Amino acid sequence: LNQSDRQAVPDHPLQGELVRLRALEPSDAALLNPLFCDPDVLSGLEMTWPQSEAGFEEWVRVPKPDGVAVVIETLDGREAIGACDLRGISLRSRSAEFGIWVAKPRWNQGYGTDATRTMVRYGFDQLNLHRISLHVYATNLRAVRAYEKVGFVVEGTLRDAQFLGGRHIDVIAMAILSDRG
Ligand SMILES: CC(C)(COP(=O)(O)OP(=O)(O)OC[C@H]1O[C@@H](n2cnc3c(N)ncnc32)[C@H](O)[C@@H]1OP(=O)(O)O)[C@@H](O)C(=O)NCCC(=O)NCCS
Repeated sequence: LNQSDRQAVPDHPLQGELVRLRALEPSDAALLNPLFCDPDVLSGLEMTWPQSEAGFEEWVRVPKPDGVAVVIETLDGREAIGACDLRGISLRSRSAEFGIWVAKPRWNQGYGTDATRTMVRYGFDQLNLHRISLHVYATNLRAVRAYEKVGFVVEGTLRDAQFLGGRHIDVIAMAILSDRG
């Protein structure tokens, strides 16, 4: 980065090429909860059973002192298509964990990658994080591919660390480091 790039402050730190990340509202629950409860979405997440709309609303309302959770909205239609978050933000190690889900009808259109890239940039450039990590099921090739496109690197495999679809599966640990130190 040259000096002028370093000083340039983006107008929209939470805007990517395809999506904008915006605040979650309790009113998002009606639209987002049924999309979240799709079994194919849940199969990539730790929560394996559908939650009620009230449960979604409660999660939105709960204060997140060590994290940031946002709605993923398309830039073209301003349509809410998922959510992502940084949690467990540590000021000591300047690290956090990343999580994301996108509604199934919107998969494979670049939204997950763009939302991840935007959140990572936000974590590094606005929150001064150094490291962002995540765990992904080894069977979740779509997610692994999206994370690799953003620059996440595989750090290791937790063998048989999850149970899904009647069998134990490996969990892959991935992380991305800020090149600014
Ligand atoms: C993971 C998730 C967020 C990805 O979002 P997305 O919008 O579909 O991702 P993108 O379209 O940006 O990228 C997906 C990439 O995976 C590729 N892909 C899709 N299916 C694949 C497969 N079976 N094997 C390998 N790559 C695959 C796509 O081709 C694309 O890569 P490309 O751009 O090089 O072609 C979304 O699938 C999701 O919400 N899944 C359910 C919840 C979940 O698993 N969350 C992550 C928990 S760790």
